[in-house]
Amino acid sequence: MLKEGNIVRIIEISQRQSKAWIISLAQNAELSTHLGNILHNDCIGKNFGDILSLTKGKVIISRPSPRDYIRYFRLKTQILYEDDCAIACSLAGVGSGMYVGEAGTGSGALTTFLAHHVQPSGHVFSYDINTKYLTNAQKNLAKTDLSDYITFKLQDIRSPLEERELDAFFLDFSSPYEAIDNIAPVLNGGGHLVCFIPNWGQVEQTVAQIRQCPYFVHQETFEITRRNFIVNPDKGIMRPVFRDLVYSGILIHAIRVNPDK
Ligand SMILES: C[S@@+](CC[C@H](N)C(=O)[O-])C[C@H]1O[C@@H](n2cnc3c(N)ncnc32)[C@H](O)[C@@H]1O
Repeated sequence: MLKEGNIVRIIEISQRQSKAWIISLAQNAELSTHLGNILHNDCIGKNFGDILSLTKGKVIISRPSPRDYIRYFRLKTQILYEDDCAIACSLAGVGSGMYVGEAGTGSGALTTFLAHHVQPSGHVFSYDINTKYLTNAQKNLAKTDLSDYITFKLQDIRSPLEERELDAFFLDFSSPYEAIDNIAPVLNGGGHLVCFIPNWGQVEQTVAQIRQCPYFVHQETFEITRRNFIVNPDKGIMRPVFRDLVYSGILIHAIRVNPDK
């Protein structure tokens, strides 16, 4: 049953593009929308999946996913899109109870996916070199129910890190090849390194650096593509959208090994 302090996503029920809002439930608070006011008190005591009737329409009370949260974030940097975040987590097998690291924090998009997957007994250590971005990411994550699972750190990822025995590390900044040797002592044997790189020149440099490091074995390098469709059976429309995101970047995956003695 929903209580004060729970974070919920309210979605308009509509045949066309429906609107949605994320709110933290508070006694006597209300949100004004084009469908009428949503009274928080009407949500408290309800369950996820319940439908509320407003003066001009109906809405569903739903549980926000990481991708939903990110849509409400203030973005001050380029972010990792949900497709890349999901595959990055899958490459490293991120799951509940794992301890993982990332740099840079940026706007906190990947951080959100990582925290979602490691909760409630795991943790994310998130590094950024820039105070402004770190502060913004902290504010973004404060709008979710995930901030307890994250430690934000202001540090250059190319300088030695104090963490040890992490299960995975994710690098998303312009020169990941400069941090590879630094990440090796932080990871457990069998741990995963995942780098995200938009520019192809840095892909070559990063894979070369991974190959020369005795603590990593390169696994794969690839790009994810996605095609969004418009489907409207009433009008007989089913086709890819005309304008779409065509490229985000390249993922590189390596495994931490214990070199022969
Ligand atoms: C593209 S953004 C990361 C986006 C983030 N993955 C997200 O999904 O929101 C790159 C970030 O790396 C940070 N950065 C750049 N060089 C760094 C370094 N040497 N150490 C730590 N962070 C660094 C930048 O300040 C920036 O915030």
